[in-house]
Amino acid sequence: MSDRQPTDTTTPAAHTPSEAAAGSPAASNAEVLATPGLSRRHFAALGGATALGALLPRSIVDRAAAAAGDRSGREAHPAVADAPEPLPAFRYPMESQTGRVYAVGSAKESTVKQMPVAEGLAGVSMRLQPGAIRELHWHALAAEWAFVVTGHCQTTTFDPEGRSEINNFGPGDVWYFPRGFAHSIQGSGPGECHFVLIFDNGHFSEYGTFSLTDWTSLTPTHVLAQNFGVAESVFAKVPKGELYIGPGRVPSADAVARPDGAAHDAPVTHKYRLLAQAPRESPGGTIRIVSSVEFPISGGMTGAYLTIAPGGLRTMHWHPNADEWQYYVTGQARLTVFGSSGRVRTEDVSAGDATYIPRGYGHHIENVGSEQCRIIAGFNSGFYQEIGLAAWMHNIPPALMTDNLGIPEETARRMEQPAVPIAARA
Ligand SMILES: [Fe+2]
Ligand SMILES: [Fe+2]
Repeated sequence: MSDRQPTDTTTPAAHTPSEAAAGSPAASNAEVLATPGLSRRHFAALGGATALGALLPRSIVDRAAAAAGDRSGREAHPAVADAPEPLPAFRYPMESQTGRVYAVGSAKESTVKQMPVAEGLAGVSMRLQPGAIRELHWHALAAEWAFVVTGHCQTTTFDPEGRSEINNFGPGDVWYFPRGFAHSIQGSGPGECHFVLIFDNGHFSEYGTFSLTDWTSLTPTHVLAQNFGVAESVFAKVPKGELYIGPGRVPSADAVARPDGAAHDAPVTHKYRLLAQAPRESPGGTIRIVSSVEFPISGGMTGAYLTIAPGGLRTMHWHPNADEWQYYVTGQARLTVFGSSGRVRTEDVSAGDATYIPRGYGHHIENVGSEQCRIIAGFNSGFYQEIGLAAWMHNIPPALMTDNLGIPEETARRMEQPAVPIAARA
């Protein structure tokens, strides 16, 4: 991949004219071309890439030369004093952290603390051994959407109307717990269960949940006795401090929510089988999407599962109504995020990484590896929206596209192939 951009490449707009004019190695082509007195024509006249090649990184030289070569009739924007900040990092190597490690499970998270740009969504990679309990808890700040990657587990949930549900999950299944709903997760074996959790608040930390043992261990036993209507001695051995993940018995597949064996009575299920959904087939891969339309309880979030074949491209698009948080299950990809004002950032992404794309930011994903790229994605809206660049271009007059994009009108008229969410290798 000789033409690859270096990881974490940022091309910000000009900072100050003096920085760019000095030919700083850190200056991008946008900085160079935005310098007063140095238009694209002037840049070309100076010898363009050849003259500045010794001063600028190769990727910058290549882009500058391309800009100077065929767009000489257009002047660059003048530098402005309030140029935006460079784009921040959109990738965090979540699986490479240690996280919380217990005898029977583990948790690794990505919040605004690990990835500051991710204001709108957070995520966790969690593993539970058979019987291990992610203890009874709730979240004050976020709803919880989850996708089971491998293994099996069982959840319980209890809602404000006094209704409960128990569900068994396998690979490709999704759950959703609205903000504040009580719930638990337990590995049901055989083998480890690995799932990815996504929360609709970037400031939410999985380590700051409201756990049963955290509260009971901080409450006098006479209060617990009065609260539950049993003898105080019953609570002599309640855990001291938060259990979080602890050992337990492998749950019965036909477990019931209440001691009296009453049927589950949640009116809207918390489980959705995403991989059982027929995918949207595309030349370069597949997409499955589950919003509140398919999964009514998921009122605050939408989830997606993408596969991109080697060489494939998740085409250029943005989401008008939601931020996007991604977890890469397999493969090697190149995620590029467009942030307006001459800013774009490309990140090399591989299995175990979390990424984040703010609402409205343009983005595309290239599978640059030799294996299929599989991605779990979550959005902080229960309604899914996207606008694709190719689809947009197919819905404007060819003359407008010609004038705006600078391509021959005859070509614009011939661009009749349907837009696809994932394009095959070129
Ligand atoms: Fe939770
Ligand atoms: Fe997207």
